[in-house]
Amino acid sequence: MIDSSSELQSYLLDHQDDLVTHIIQFNELMNRYQAAIKEVSTKLEILKSDFQIRNHRSSIENIQSRIKKPVSILKKLQRKGIEVNLDTIRSELNDVAGIRVICPFIDDIYMVAQKLAQQDDIHVITVKDYIKNPKSSGYRSYHMIIEVPVFFMDAKELMRVEVQLRTVAMDFWASLEHQIKYKKECTHDKELVRDLKLCADTIAETDLRMLELRERMARSNM
Ligand code: GTP
Ligand code: MG
Repeated sequence: MIDSSSELQSYLLDHQDDLVTHIIQFNELMNRYQAAIKEVSTKLEILKSDFQIRNHRSSIENIQSRIKKPVSILKKLQRKGIEVNLDTIRSELNDVAGIRVICPFIDDIYMVAQKLAQQDDIHVITVKDYIKNPKSSGYRSYHMIIEVPVFFMDAKELMRVEVQLRTVAMDFWASLEHQIKYKKECTHDKELVRDLKLCADTIAETDLRMLELRERMARSNM
């Protein structure tokens, strides 16, 4: 199991025959994921500005993106017991390219997700609705794995991107919870787990109330 950059280094040294070729091919693949992020981010930016012009409010607060780090790619494949190579990165991992969309209100999430999914060059592979079905931790977000065509010098390729959509409030909880506990072995601390879930539930309730307030204001302005 590779769990540090020094181990990554020695892994690479053990395989140094093909090292240069592997690095070039790996960088090329990461560049392709980066290109996919650009394509999907542009689509989201266009939806954001179009909605803003039509509705005089924002449906997207913020769009963040990241490419999974090489060490995390290696660790994830090894955890799944899968051989590490360029083909398995492409076929087995859905989250090498990741985009996080932060929306003001819960209904914005479903609207943005629907507008993205409707685009005829986007293919939705899976959806996980952790808003309707929160995780036992209390985690809420709407996850989509999509495939987008990207045109390169030599070919058109379908690239997979993980899109996580959440409200500002859900993002607040997820960021802090991540710092406090996510992927650390502290699930035995039942009180901590319960309190974090209580916070998530309170935040979810507030999200719903804010949506009600927005609708109430809209009705009173009619
Ligand atoms: P990963 O191997 O972590 O990518 O999980 P997965 O492939 O089983 O997908 P899942 O839908 O469970 O989660 C994907 C991503 O959602 C994670 O990488 C996190 O960014 C986020 N996530 C899922 N569960 C939690 C949670 O309990 N807390 C926080 N803060 N984030 C979570
Ligand atoms: Mg992930």
